[in-house]
Amino acid sequence: MSIILDGNRVRDRILRDLGPRVAALAAASRPPGLAVVLVGNDTGSQIYVRNKVKACAELGIASHSLTPPANIATEELLAIVEGLNQRPDIDGILVQLPLPPQVDSRRVLLAVAPQKDVDGFHPMNVGNLVAGRPGPRPCTPSGIMELLKQYQIPVAGKRAVVVGRSDIVGKPMAVLLLHANATVTICHSRTADLPGVCREGEILVAAMGRPAMLTADYIRPGAVVVDVGMNRITDRAEAARIFRNSPERLATLERKGSVLVGDVDPLDMQAKASAYTPVPGGVGPLTIAMLMANTVNAAEAACRIMEESC
Ligand code: GUN
Repeated sequence: MSIILDGNRVRDRILRDLGPRVAALAAASRPPGLAVVLVGNDTGSQIYVRNKVKACAELGIASHSLTPPANIATEELLAIVEGLNQRPDIDGILVQLPLPPQVDSRRVLLAVAPQKDVDGFHPMNVGNLVAGRPGPRPCTPSGIMELLKQYQIPVAGKRAVVVGRSDIVGKPMAVLLLHANATVTICHSRTADLPGVCREGEILVAAMGRPAMLTADYIRPGAVVVDVGMNRITDRAEAARIFRNSPERLATLERKGSVLVGDVDPLDMQAKASAYTPVPGGVGPLTIAMLMANTVNAAEAACRIMEESC
């Protein structure tokens, strides 16, 4: 029997602990403010942003959505970010990624004031992370660390394998696991014998964005498997193959036109892992909870600078 690592439960606990801090800020000065910049009309990004805005509303954080068009120029987006940097009612700025190809994403992330960088993507905060100094941590990896902590999954001394080397998940995940004293391997598309390397992982984190790619021969028996993938499947035959004709999942596909699958084969993961995160309901809710936590941290820091009682 494997344990399901329930991201919704951990999210609820994180948000419950944030509630009084938000109330204290609102009483001392004003509620925390988060600006979310969503460029263009990508459906996936729109769903993510909608969920972030909803979480703010539930927690009492003031959210401000900006939705510039997909054809925006880098300079125009930089001007928007600069405007948000100057606004005293905004504590956190999130620029939803990916940005359209004509936009220089690096310049945009560099333009976000480091103290308002609730994603932890500014190079200064990446440096703080690597150096083990205080600062905002990228939300998905820090949410995963919180999940492991809440389920009392030991990390120190364990072999951890991270598949995927993105700036958003793979790299910061590896650093956080390293700081927690795991022995960490980062894998990617050019890794030789990927199944063999993955099978070394007592903790396996899949974050490469390839639907159900990690099958049974990638999973060490008894591993703790964290599936970061959120892939939308619309093809019925593919869904039927991945979910072994599960009537429930196929009904979801019929009803919604798509069904979510992670980067790990769900049934193989269930069969081989000692504990695993389901998709949906595993890592996804944690990302938003940690965004809220980073926003509250930024608001408290701003409040302290104003020397208000918070
Ligand atoms: N796109 C996918 N994940 C994220 C995230 O955590 N932050 C931002 N800004 N964009 C994303």
